Amino acid sequence: MCGIVGYTGSQAAQPILVEGLTRLEYRGYDSAGVAIQNGDGIDVVHRKGKVAELAHTLAHFDYEGTCGIGHTRWATHGKPSEANAHPHTSCAGDIAVVHNGIIENFMELREELEVRGHRFTSDTDTEVVAHLIEEAYRERAAAGAPDLLGAVADATARVVGAYGLAVICANEPGTIVVTRKDSPIVVGQGAHGGYVASDIIALIDATRDVVVLADGQFAKLRPESIAYFDEAGRSIEPTVTHVDWDLDMAEKGGYPDFMLKEIHEQPRVIRDTLAGRLVNGALTIDELDMTPEELDLIDRVYVIACGTSYHAGLIAKNLIEGWARIPTEVEVASEFRYRNPIITPSTLVVAVSQSGETADTLAAIRDARVKGAKVFGITNVVGSPVARESDGVIYTKANKEIAVASTKSFLGQVVSLTLLAMMLAQSQGKLRTAEVKLLFRELADTAEQVETILSNEAAIEAAAEACKDATSALFIGRGMGSAVSYEGALKLKEISYLHAEAYAAGEMKHGPIALLEEGFPVIAIATKSPVYDKVISNLQESRARGAMIVAIATEGDEDICNHADHVIHIPPVRDAFSAITASVPLQLFARAIALARGCDVDQPRNLAKSVTVE
Ligand code: AGP
Repeated sequence: MCGIVGYTGSQAAQPILVEGLTRLEYRGYDSAGVAIQNGDGIDVVHRKGKVAELAHTLAHFDYEGTCGIGHTRWATHGKPSEANAHPHTSCAGDIAVVHNGIIENFMELREELEVRGHRFTSDTDTEVVAHLIEEAYRERAAAGAPDLLGAVADATARVVGAYGLAVICANEPGTIVVTRKDSPIVVGQGAHGGYVASDIIALIDATRDVVVLADGQFAKLRPESIAYFDEAGRSIEPTVTHVDWDLDMAEKGGYPDFMLKEIHEQPRVIRDTLAGRLVNGALTIDELDMTPEELDLIDRVYVIACGTSYHAGLIAKNLIEGWARIPTEVEVASEFRYRNPIITPSTLVVAVSQSGETADTLAAIRDARVKGAKVFGITNVVGSPVARESDGVIYTKANKEIAVASTKSFLGQVVSLTLLAMMLAQSQGKLRTAEVKLLFRELADTAEQVETILSNEAAIEAAAEACKDATSALFIGRGMGSAVSYEGALKLKEISYLHAEAYAAGEMKHGPIALLEEGFPVIAIATKSPVYDKVISNLQESRARGAMIVAIATEGDEDICNHADHVIHIPPVRDAFSAITASVPLQLFARAIALARGCDVDQPRNLAKSVTVE
């Protein structure tokens, strides 16, 4: 996730900004930059790469300015590059902006601004904000009332999307204006001035009394004080929070580990991945870079991936075949690459990889392209090898995932694959616009449903407590629940080292049922679906042999309680989207058992975040 810092006070801003950016490095980034007022203008320095490289460059300038802003960028729009690094400036270079979030309507704003003569120097969505503020500031100045705070308010009123912003202006020395919508901004007054950051960890050396801005609020930082305003511009009294976290807790946003922090980031990942994808009723996946004619010709889809990403592919198969009626095969990349698959020019290969570096997946992409397939990547890392070697790519907008076990990046993959399935179905005339709009709205609602699940972990923790001493576990489901059960089993075994297997529930009587004995845990995805009754039968046959049943069930289903020892209710959702909601309790279940067994949930033994070897 990108990082924002800012300072205005009695000391030189440069070292304070660099230190703050250093504190934010753990969030993952690909470039960094600062903007520092210099008395009559603003000096801006960008560097692709690490903060240390930025600091090395800055050492040659050693700016003395006492007001500035800084940023670490995790690319979402526009590849990692010096030109795309923040801060971004107005045409005149007298206004500088750093931004976290996604401006959904940046293309239309950019077109308007270019028509009015603005010149852009980057491919980012952020840069439009700098030019919008420039226009608003000029208009206010022409009316005899130049005002950076008002100009920022005018500009953000035009923006659709999520933003955390910090802005400086050469004509208002010593002033930083900040505001936010769906992206955190924290401010605080220290002994030597005012501080702003996107994350408490960058502030707590200067002050532990901070104000977490609410959506729509503004703050105006001056060396000696900070003023707060509501979205109507009225002065307000801030709510000050005293933070007693240590650095480690602050790095995890107050969560005990990165895995839980990232599980709780999933509603935002859903929203960010969907941002800007439905324009005037039409799904837009420009990155697919395929003409309607080419889309119509697709008669076979391969989804290739490894591990958790492979399980996202299993979910995609249900959706693509269900909506688009295109035969879809899901294969682990390490098998696909060696079996000489049948590929024709009308084959679409979808490569899924959160790291974008997995060796087997990359090799499979190269093989598929040699055979003439169109390859579409889905990855979480802008500019990664998977992104570069695919014909088109969707970025999952999960920001950096630090825990080795994929959670938020997996959900980002599922949402992206759902969009792709809807797009294929729409292009082949299998989904009408009205149906796409309805599906998109329900897909967007899953963010709130995940928030509901995350707000009530008691049943999950009770089930985990009951299973933590087991030596093996079975995950079962049917249809979408079957795909979810594979991911649930992997999550459990990879972080708790408790052996777990997944089976299509209908397979139980073909062998796995022999495993069952008194107290053997069977975790079943038993949400309401066309095959719900069949799953209940599988629970009954398992329970008859002594199994302890943990069921993921749909809120309102009380009958399930007659067939399970532990029931985890989740909000009702269309079966097509049930993988998104049902996966979340299984992530928390695996984490709770791992903690109970004394495992490191962020860095499980033997595992790496990206597997760049065969
Ligand atoms: C993640 O929880 C798993 N540990 C692992 O299976 C992972 O999904 C797999 O290595 C693929 O990684 P990728 O998505 O970066 O290609």
